[in-house]
Amino acid sequence: MRMYDLIKKKRDGGELTEAEIRFLIEGFTKGDIPDYQMSAFTMAVFFRGMTDRETTALTLAMARSGDVIDLSGIDGVKVDKHSTGGVGDTTTLVLAPLVAACGAPVAKMSGRALGHTGGTLDKLESIPGFSVYMTPEQFVDSVNRLKVAVIGQTAAIAPADGKWYKLRDVTATVESVPLIAASIMSKKLAAGADALVLDVKAGRGAFLKKFEDTLKLAETMVSIGTRAGRRTVALITDMNQPLGRAIGNALEVKEAVETLQGRGPDDLTELTLALGTEMLVLAQVAEDATDARRRLGEAIRSGRALEKFREMVVNQGGDPAFIDDPSRLPTAPVRVVVEARASGWVDAIDGHELGDVTMLLGAGRRKQDDEIDHAVGLVLRAKVGSRVEAGDVLCEVHAARPEDAAALTERIRAAFSIGPRPPEPRPLVLRRVSAD
Ligand code: URA
Ligand code: CA
Repeated sequence: MRMYDLIKKKRDGGELTEAEIRFLIEGFTKGDIPDYQMSAFTMAVFFRGMTDRETTALTLAMARSGDVIDLSGIDGVKVDKHSTGGVGDTTTLVLAPLVAACGAPVAKMSGRALGHTGGTLDKLESIPGFSVYMTPEQFVDSVNRLKVAVIGQTAAIAPADGKWYKLRDVTATVESVPLIAASIMSKKLAAGADALVLDVKAGRGAFLKKFEDTLKLAETMVSIGTRAGRRTVALITDMNQPLGRAIGNALEVKEAVETLQGRGPDDLTELTLALGTEMLVLAQVAEDATDARRRLGEAIRSGRALEKFREMVVNQGGDPAFIDDPSRLPTAPVRVVVEARASGWVDAIDGHELGDVTMLLGAGRRKQDDEIDHAVGLVLRAKVGSRVEAGDVLCEVHAARPEDAAALTERIRAAFSIGPRPPEPRPLVLRRVSAD
């Protein structure tokens, strides 16, 4: 088999066989296929697309390019959840203990912040003492005892994806439905869960700007999961503003605690309940969506969800004192506010821009090995639909130095779009996609 022929076949709109796709992924992972040929092939896929059969074969080949985690030692149906990249997306911190408190095992592997998006691992590491490292045996044992553990995804999971993503990033080929679907699903399949709930973001903060493309991405991922024998459900959710009020590591941990106490922001609470409902049904601990909602609500009201969070923190070496006293979390020395210049209604908030701003404050990474400041970030004081008068506070900035905040104030203000009329209310969950 020659890579030249595969590039030509895809360039001319042909369908690759499973053997050809395996050859491609194995050769690229080993370094036998050079970046220049892989780049040409990737651009051909960008324009020609892939059939569902090709996309599934590609995903499986990528999933098998490294370690495939065996979670069979964990009792029950393991359900994983994945978000396609939110800003201030605090859901995993809330969902993991909440769903576990309802009896579904949560064996979660998460990633770190990069660019404008945050990472669950960095958020958890703002808890004093918390460790995201465990041996596979400790991981399985923790989930059997507590129903929940959240650890770091190692480089050994789908290495073909790590290498390919770097190449896509510099060849303008990220925004391809089959390539995004295969990239995400290969990591999820290798991470070993039995079932999967996907939160696919739509709107201005999302990877794909057009709703039809987002829908196609959700359908493709559900189809791959189903063909691979994992029950998969996707919710397409609105991202015309960041989720909740906090963006930044320790600030989001505090927001997660408030949400587990039943006093979190409405949109974060609603999204958590919607995703949690799907997870409980797929894990077969709830009979249907109504039963699942009731169980989730009860776990929050009774305090069991918060108690589960405390257990998880202690199990992973963290000091749980911050749960009752948030001042134990890292706190930024500088706090300034950004005020509205005009009066009106907030009709959109640019999450991508605020994600970049938060990274520049020090909460995220420009490059993979940048250091993180857990204390800094933003707290939104106005959300889409808020009425504001000139001079009202839009956002609090938590910074390490006054000049960091000052340099970003104008960008933060400009991220809030203020119009003359209240915006049409939009549902948070725009569409549910499942195999049936
Ligand atoms: N997230 C991924 O993991 N891969 C992509 O290609 C895009 C988003
Ligand atoms: Ca948030």
